Amino acid sequence: MIDLDRLLARIEHLGQVGALPGGGCKRLALSPEDAAGRALVTAWFRDLGLEVTTDVIGNTWAIRPGLRDLPPVVMGSHIDTVATGGLYDGTLGVLAGLEVIQSAIEAGIETDHPLAVAFFTNEEGARFAPDMMGSGVATGALPLDAMLASRGIDDVTVGDALTSIGARGDAPVGALSPAAYLELHIEQGPVLEAEGLQIGVVTGVQGISWTEFTVKGRSAHAGTTPMPMRRDAGHVAAAIAMEARAIATDFAPPQVATVGRLSFSPDLVNVVPERATLTVDLRNTDENRLAKAEARLFAFAEAAAQNEGCTLTRRGLARFEPVAFDPALVDDIATEADRLGYSHRRMPSGAGHDAQMFAPVCPSAMIFVPSRDGISHNIEEYTAPEDLARGARLLAHVALARAGQTKGPRA
Ligand code: GLV
Ligand code: MN
Ligand code: MN
Repeated sequence: MIDLDRLLARIEHLGQVGALPGGGCKRLALSPEDAAGRALVTAWFRDLGLEVTTDVIGNTWAIRPGLRDLPPVVMGSHIDTVATGGLYDGTLGVLAGLEVIQSAIEAGIETDHPLAVAFFTNEEGARFAPDMMGSGVATGALPLDAMLASRGIDDVTVGDALTSIGARGDAPVGALSPAAYLELHIEQGPVLEAEGLQIGVVTGVQGISWTEFTVKGRSAHAGTTPMPMRRDAGHVAAAIAMEARAIATDFAPPQVATVGRLSFSPDLVNVVPERATLTVDLRNTDENRLAKAEARLFAFAEAAAQNEGCTLTRRGLARFEPVAFDPALVDDIATEADRLGYSHRRMPSGAGHDAQMFAPVCPSAMIFVPSRDGISHNIEEYTAPEDLARGARLLAHVALARAGQTKGPRA
């Protein structure tokens, strides 16, 4: 019942909002491009006659009523992107949710529970930390006031950015209370493709730790200052970056470590850096191992700064423990995948997702479809149409079953 051409056309259309030369798009959270994306998707919600609600942090959802007075089965994800984003990360889950609802309406399918499709503010965390901000606020895991005060990489606060693009709604925190939460997403990694499988049945999400380190030393002449006399903030930052990689190597997979931002001041060829700022992203499926990785990194950073006569400050940007999805809903996904004849495996998610924020408040789970070459957060991100179709069809089956389909053809 899924109309693949319509789904593809919407993915392409939304991909043109904030399109980058060479492909992909840039819709950083609460930017003018994000505002244009929100307007487009909200118009699609309204075109279907759905009731649309936006909450105080800009999360937006559309509901198709059910036959009974029950909480909705919510399908959702995000439409913000990193600055070098592809067309599928997040958008797939939102537009597939919309497609499920539209095709259910067209097929005359009725459900006991309402069906809802949602997009959540600032899932990426690329402009404002932490990631999963909107879904975290919606589920009570992140405090609204602190999130509104969070400053982006451009020094603008979430609150000001919400106001400036007109994305602040009236609905209070907790207004969206799902009976179940389902998210279709691209895998963003290489496993499904490497194993020739069609579907990932996601069992949970690994823990995430983001830290920003600021090192302060003293600027000095690069030619005249003897090495022992330097207080080189750049050297300390570089050593921390090397240690992050060493931790990933020593801890072994699934531990990963990334230094995604690094800046020096005054950032000149012949001046010893006075100040350096860098971020470290550590992830592990095991909370104990993640905490150990953090402890080793923090101790190393302190010692490295001290040895160089520098000072170090550390700011936590995001910290999420590993999350396990609802076993019964995960089983439902695997069972429906079998019924549809789709090859699949169970797997944890390496990326953060809005679904992990819903996991503590309602049965939640995710479906992955393969990513070509495992690439994401890259304009080359690609998932083949037949994989998108399988993911959307599986989402439809699981969502309609959960919502209690009582009338109309099987999805
Ligand atoms: C967010 O999506 C992340 O995994 O970094
Ligand atoms: Mn995503
Ligand atoms: Mn992403």
